[in-house]
Amino acid sequence: MTRARIAGVGAYVPPRVLTNAEVAARVDTTEEWIVQRTGIRERHIADETEATSDLAVAAARQALARAGLVPEDVELIVVGTSRGDMPFPSTANFVQHKLGARRAGAMDVFAACAGSVYSLSIGAQYIETGKYRTVLTIGAEIYSRLVDWNDRATCVLFGDGAAATVLRPATDGSGILDADLYSDGRHWEWLYVPGGGSKHPTSHETVDGRLHYLRMRGDEVFKAAVRMLAESSLAILEKNGYAPEQVDLFIPHQANVRIIEAVAKRLGVPMDRVVVDVDRYGNTASASVYLALEEAWSQGRVRPGDLVLLASFGGGFTWGAALVQWS
Ligand code: ACO
Repeated sequence: MTRARIAGVGAYVPPRVLTNAEVAARVDTTEEWIVQRTGIRERHIADETEATSDLAVAAARQALARAGLVPEDVELIVVGTSRGDMPFPSTANFVQHKLGARRAGAMDVFAACAGSVYSLSIGAQYIETGKYRTVLTIGAEIYSRLVDWNDRATCVLFGDGAAATVLRPATDGSGILDADLYSDGRHWEWLYVPGGGSKHPTSHETVDGRLHYLRMRGDEVFKAAVRMLAESSLAILEKNGYAPEQVDLFIPHQANVRIIEAVAKRLGVPMDRVVVDVDRYGNTASASVYLALEEAWSQGRVRPGDLVLLASFGGGFTWGAALVQWS
């Protein structure tokens, strides 16, 4: 069977770093509260000239170069994003054009913070069926323009960034072994942006009511994230005949270090096999798992043959897990 292998990874975060001290100067919070409750110390923030596709293109260029490929090789671009350049057209279209990927189809996948595993899974299908030989999957977000900078409960949590993978066929049995996607729309009100869509189109009233900003029940999201990340991770391992102790590297969604530690504990995976970068990037939503994967790869923490478990969770709720035998 042909599998999709990750032939290149790339990442880009905007240079501007926003520290907890700077956040604490804007809203009623403290550096200590943010670190103790979330593990986040700083995050990167896009400058006003940058759109989500600019971050995505920078990450994609690096991933392609590392795979030894050029934009003309790309046949499909899948961008996981929930804060794209514009409501219309897709951010993937901007990426296709800016990258010069003349042969590529392009689509966005909206799965909130689960956009990484969702986009990776969709991209992999096109390789596995033999339809395409080169697929670019990207997670890219500018949540600094989705959060209400007057709301201390959400503005401290997020950061901007993008990361990408290049998928190519593998016939030696390695690559993406499996990916499971889940959703449960019952609890949409625990994490949502009410305004700007067909239900509440943008108007003076929606803007005055701050309906265009993210709203969250943090306590409920926290509990659901721990449960779903752990359950989906255990399920994909069991289905594929692996035990948690066989996982060489676990790369969970980076929202809160307490969520990551709780999930690792439920799985029984020691923290030295868990990738954590939330301290430096905050929650970058669709980019989060990709960004952590790229960092782990850059640091030499992912070696050929390693079993890598990815898991992401986001608003909706949407979540998923993927299992990769690194090529
Ligand atoms: N500074 C100081 N106090 C704060 C802050 C802040 N930045 N934010 C909230 N508080 C206060 C609240 O007002 C509340 O006060 P009250 O009890 O007087 O009402 C109190 O802190 C809440 O305390 P805790 O419940 O102990 O806070 P908790 O430990 O739950 O941490 C947090 C809150 C960090 C938001 C946590 O719930 C969390 O991480 N939830 C998950 C969030 C998440 O991952 N969201 C993204 C999901 S992915 C996606 O799709 C985007």
